Amino acid sequence: MTAFLDLAVDIAREAGDMLLAKRPARPEAVQTKSSQTDVVTALDRASEELIRDRIKAARPGDAILGEEGGETVGAETREGRVRWIVDPIDGTVNFMYGLPDWAVSIAVEVDGEVVAGVVNVVPRGELFAAGKGGGAELMRQGMPAERLHCNTGVPLSQALIATGFGYQPGRRAVQAEVLAHVLPKVRDIRRGGSCAADLCSVAAGRVDGYYERGAEYWDFAAGGLIAAEAGARIGGLRGRPYNPDLTVCAAPGLFEQLHDLLEPLDPERDA
Ligand code: IPD
Ligand code: CA
Ligand code: CA
Repeated sequence: MTAFLDLAVDIAREAGDMLLAKRPARPEAVQTKSSQTDVVTALDRASEELIRDRIKAARPGDAILGEEGGETVGAETREGRVRWIVDPIDGTVNFMYGLPDWAVSIAVEVDGEVVAGVVNVVPRGELFAAGKGGGAELMRQGMPAERLHCNTGVPLSQALIATGFGYQPGRRAVQAEVLAHVLPKVRDIRRGGSCAADLCSVAAGRVDGYYERGAEYWDFAAGGLIAAEAGARIGGLRGRPYNPDLTVCAAPGLFEQLHDLLEPLDPERDA
């Protein structure tokens, strides 16, 4: 499985380098998606094209699910059914505004299970990577790789919690209502603008936990494995696996407290 991780790292690096080199002073939206604030830049598309080309060149039989290009089917391979999950820029709004939390996120699934995940937080020069069962690492150029461990033993009242908001006004109204109940119960809230980077922040102990309604598989597939390999628990409400309705992530103990705070607030609804 390290071959998948190595390839994902190489491709995420190449896409990140291309984005840094080509990013104009103020990237413009070329299209809106689910709402006026849900935008795509030309470089989201260029990044996904580069990633797809590299995957196809190295592993022509694999399926690819990318945020911008949708799903392409694959064939059964020697390793099983392999699918690559790609967010070519996670944090496009940060990318447009020149804020440092945007990332290239690539995960590899074999027979439905994520076995490798890479999140390249390009402006920070930080590449987070994990292989299933092999732990999670932070790589920085010129520095030894750092083994990641999420924070443990933090009570909810002392927890710094990352979250994010969707693009639909009706969804945001409920997210604001839920947040109003969460904020008085925790240390503070962070809204970084990249789900993938948020999950890596859980892995690195830069926040204690994360929850979000509406994050998609390409947002959390890679970061979710990285957080889990750093010791965090990631899941949905009432024992469900993580999913777009709600994703919660924190060390065991805090996960349950955060879950029990969120669950009665019915956070999976939209207005
Ligand atoms: C978004 C970011 C953001 C999260 C949204 C995502 P995008 O991804 O991950 O942090 O709150 O739910 O859609 O649109 O920048 O790829
Ligand atoms: Ca995304
Ligand atoms: Ca994206």
